[in-house]
Amino acid sequence: MVAVLIGTTACAQNRKENKNMKRTLVAYFSATGTTRAAAQKLAKEKNADLFEIAPDVPYTSADLDWRDKQSRSTKEMNDKSFRPAIKGTCPNIADYDTIWIGFPVWWYTAPTIINTFIEAHDLSGKTLCVFATSGGSGVSGSAKDLKNTYPHYTWGESRLMN
Ligand SMILES: Cc1cc2nc3c(=O)[nH]c(=O)nc-3n(C[C@H](O)[C@H](O)[C@H](O)COP(=O)(O)O)c2cc1C
Repeated sequence: MVAVLIGTTACAQNRKENKNMKRTLVAYFSATGTTRAAAQKLAKEKNADLFEIAPDVPYTSADLDWRDKQSRSTKEMNDKSFRPAIKGTCPNIADYDTIWIGFPVWWYTAPTIINTFIEAHDLSGKTLCVFATSGGSGVSGSAKDLKNTYPHYTWGESRLMN
């Protein structure tokens, strides 16, 4: 039971490590599962913990209809100050010195829920890396937008994981 709890607690301290050892977190938002699969792959590669950036209200397929000017995602992406509520924060964020932040590219950039995640945590002193999945767009525009919005943070590499 204890093992099950530890195993399923997002970003909990689930590895016994030397105090000086670097620790990596893969934090991701995924509306339809593609970025989740990429995040799991990346976490395995980096020996990192996983944290899902979960919306308080999940996105329905109608919400994700980018052709509909009135859909939730269109409205949220048209208002750059919009911050969709997230279900929870990462309680032990201080334990990590590299954080990979992952998302699906929406309208050539990161969904605003990524801003919610960033603004809900103190990420100073950490290296922030970006990964994304998309229907074809690159990741560099999204990474550049995040760097411009949060220039006081240290930004590392970015990776498209299609
Ligand atoms: C609202 C919305 C906007 C999107 N905008 C783009 C875009 O600008 N460029 C692109 O290549 N793909 C775009 N896509 C496709 C997603 O980035 C792609 O399907 C992604 O892999 C979905 O990841 P997920 O399953 O983790 O949600 C968009 C999808 C949605 C729902």
